[in-house]
This record gives sequence, structure tokens and C-alpha cells, in this order.
Amino acid sequence: MSQPVEVRFQTVDLAALEALRGRIALICDGDKPASAAARALNRLTKGALTRALQSKEMADLKPGESMELAFPTGLQADALQLVRLARKATLHEARLAGASVAKRLDGGQVTLVAEAHPRAADIAFGLAMRAYDFSAHKSATPKSFGAVVVAVADPEKVAAEAAPMAAVAEGVFFTRDLVNEPANILTTDDFAARLAAMQELGIDVEILEEDQLAKLGMKALLGVGQGSESPSKVVVMQWRGGAEGDAPFALVGKGVVFDTGGISIKPAGGMEEMTMDMGGAGVVAGVMRTLALRRAKANVVGLVGLVENMPDGRAQRPGDVVRSMRGVTIEVINTDAEGRLVLADVLWYAQERFKPVGMINLATLTGAIIVALGHENTGVFSNDDALCDAFLKAAAAEGEGAWRMPMGPGYDAKLKSRIADIVNSCGRDGGSITAAHFLRRFVKDEVPWCHLDIAGTALLKSDSALAPRGATGWGVMALNRLIRDRYEGK
Ligand code: BES
Ligand code: MN
Ligand code: ZN
Repeated sequence: MSQPVEVRFQTVDLAALEALRGRIALICDGDKPASAAARALNRLTKGALTRALQSKEMADLKPGESMELAFPTGLQADALQLVRLARKATLHEARLAGASVAKRLDGGQVTLVAEAHPRAADIAFGLAMRAYDFSAHKSATPKSFGAVVVAVADPEKVAAEAAPMAAVAEGVFFTRDLVNEPANILTTDDFAARLAAMQELGIDVEILEEDQLAKLGMKALLGVGQGSESPSKVVVMQWRGGAEGDAPFALVGKGVVFDTGGISIKPAGGMEEMTMDMGGAGVVAGVMRTLALRRAKANVVGLVGLVENMPDGRAQRPGDVVRSMRGVTIEVINTDAEGRLVLADVLWYAQERFKPVGMINLATLTGAIIVALGHENTGVFSNDDALCDAFLKAAAAEGEGAWRMPMGPGYDAKLKSRIADIVNSCGRDGGSITAAHFLRRFVKDEVPWCHLDIAGTALLKSDSALAPRGATGWGVMALNRLIRDRYEGK
């Protein structure tokens, strides 16, 4: 990650506008300079601002989009960026407005004039989210976005609103860094070490090694990693911000640090993308970080299964039968359907040990979910309407696409195996749904549960509203909101 952009909130100094260098971004609404700063800028530019506000270009902008006056006469600034945003803008529009400013950051001085806009903190959050840049492996001096001054009427109030948002941004960046990191660097050991470092934040982190996993009977998980030089691990992260003794909410993530497919090896084209196959674990880690940073008043446990799926002389074969921790035996039809094998054991362990009040797992589980939903929505599968609806509501509020998928006994029936209890793969048709049913075999009926298939949303090939191309951190915001609204007794 590059240096994250530093945002400072200050009052608007009308007298200083003329001499400001770099870029001035002005939040505008309507066709007249409505605020004191806008009127001052209009005076200094001899009416150019008003003409711009009344232009067709301005009228054509959608909420949050911007236009620009280059080298405006009467100002020392090199550019005056006009960002269209109504006072009654939605949360998402406000974030987009901030993102419009982030897209133009070049390391120079930037002053974002938001005056008394009620969503100034959301604008700043959108700016920070979009200004993320993964430059860890660029040999040239990493990009620096410098500092952005956000000029507002009441800086203390806005800064107080922005503080919990900074915790969310930091969680999202943690997820994005993990997902963007290549697999030669983010090995299972390295991943576990990065999670262990979160002890500093007050998270209790335990790393279960292969011998312990074997004792627990997690042979489904261990089978996936047995062809890799990197040891398989389960990492347990506990945040206990709620009442002592209250059962936690559980988050479970698929952490396949690289997925070659194993002996059922994937084609070469695009295989490099499989560095993101730990995306579910990455989101769980990011949410835990956010909860700790904002000292969330909830008990939440995050569990991730970290493995690498490699072909090797010791690798698991198609046709192998493994016994899961639950005792259910699995015929491994396809070693590339490995995520469900990892999750089967971690889901079971989570319930046996923590008796959670609810459980959500995240996984880059199937290519089929991309066929179904593209990259706009995560596929949501659930055994509990109340939890599912609460999650969908939280995701919608955060602008993170999520769409509920069907489940049913007809799909479950396809899991039947000739020689074991179930198979790990049953063909292309409804592939995401049968995968969800496989997971459900390891979820107790009384535990409210959602499975989020993030194969299409964890990483994008092009820029999106709040992220440059690459890892998105999809889900951190929604899960943070879900926990805040549903488990923090508010
Ligand atoms: N990690 C993949 C799924 C995936 C595909 C994630 C594309 C992100 C982008 C998963 O382990 C996998 O290989 N799934 C197989 C399942 C099949 C063998 C039943 C798939 O989707 O083809
Ligand atoms: Mn696979
Ligand atoms: Zn995979």
C-alpha cells in the first residue's frame, strides 16, 4: 500500500482562497454559487464559477461527478474542480464525490471545500477509499498522495464523525493489501504472522498448526494443503468487546493463498489471478481489524483456514476419500473444488468451540457465481431469513452489491457419492448452489448462517467507484455495519 492519504479538517479561510496553490475542489449544488466560499471564488474568478455552474457540462454531471476549470484566472491554484453534490445527497453519492477528488490526486496540495455540507465526513471517507494504491512492489518511489485539507464549518464535529470511518478504511486497506499480495510473499506463514500482529490492537490471535489440526480431525482441510511446501493453518482471532460470557458472532474465511487447482490443475490462462483465492480470509481479517480499531462493543470471532492448493507427489488425488472433522466422509471428485473442503472443517470447528449466535462465511468459492452475477454482486446463500435480510440491508446501505441465491433439497441431492457420504463437486449446473449446499452440510440447523461467494467481487480488473483496479475489500463495510447495528445493542 502507498502512504494513505492524510486528511485534515479545518475551517474555511475565505481570505486565503486566492493564494491557495495546487488544486481547489469545491462541493457545488445548483447553478449559483450558494456558499460563502463559492461566492468568494466566483468574485476572484470574475464570474467564471457561475458560468461553469450554468454550463451544460455541469448540468450533465451525475451526483458525485466533477468538472474542472484549469488555471483559473484570479486564483493561484492550478485547477478548480467542481464536484456536484446536493445537500441532501445519499451516503453513496457523498462517497463518490470524495472519490472524484481522489482520482485527480497527484501529490500536490489539495484543498477540498465542503463548507457546511452535512456529509463532509462521508466525502472524506470516499476520498480516502479511492486514493488507495498498492505500490509495494513498484521499484520507483511509491506514489504519495500527500495531505488533503478538507475545509468545513465545524472541523471538530466532522473529525469526530470521521474517526470510526477511519477504522473502516484501515480495515478495508488491510483486506486489499492481503488480496493484492502475490502468493510467493503471502504464504500461509506470512499471512498468519500478519494476523498475529493484530494482537497489538487487543485481538486475541491463536495459530493452530498442522499437528493440532490433525488431532482435531480436520482431514478435509489438511488434504487440500498436503501438496504444498507451505504448512496449512487455522488462525482464530477473538475480539471481545461485548459482555463477558456472551456467545460471539463468527466470521469464517477461505484462505487459499494460491489455487493451482491441484492435480485437477487449472489452465494456465488467468491462473495468476488465483493469488486472490484467500479473499474470504482477507475480508475476515479486515473486519476484525476495523472492530478492534473502533473498539466495537461486540464479541466477534474470526476464523480463517490458510492453505495452498498445489500439485505434487504428495498432493491429494481425484478419487481420494477424506474424513472431515464432523465425521462426514467426502469423495474428492475434483481437487480444484478445494475451498469447500477447507471451510467444511473450519465451519464445524467454529460451531463446536464457540457456539456462535450466528455465522457468516466468505469465500472466493466458485467461478459459477461470476457466470450468474458477474462482478456486480456477491452471491448470498442462507439458512436464516432474518440474518440474511439484515446482511442484505447492511450491504445495500454501504453500496456493496449482494444478491440472495436459492437453495433447496433438489440441489442438495446432487451431493450423493457412490463410495462416501458426499462428493466435493457435482458438475457445472448450478455450481455455486451445490457448493453452498456442500457447506451447509457442515452448518448446524440451529445456527443462523450466510455464505457469501465473493469470487466475482473480491478483485476487479477495472477501477470501481471506491477502489482502483485490483482488490476491492468488498464486504468489510457491510459486515462492520451488520455487527454495529445487530450485535452492539443499539
Ligand atoms: N478459487 C476457485 C473459484 C474462483 C474462480 C475464484 C474464479 C475466483 C475466480 C475455486 O476453488 C474453484 O476452482 N472452483 C471450481 C469448482 C469446480 C471444480 C467444481 C470452479 O469454479 O470451476
Ligand atoms: Mn479451486
Ligand atoms: Zn479456490
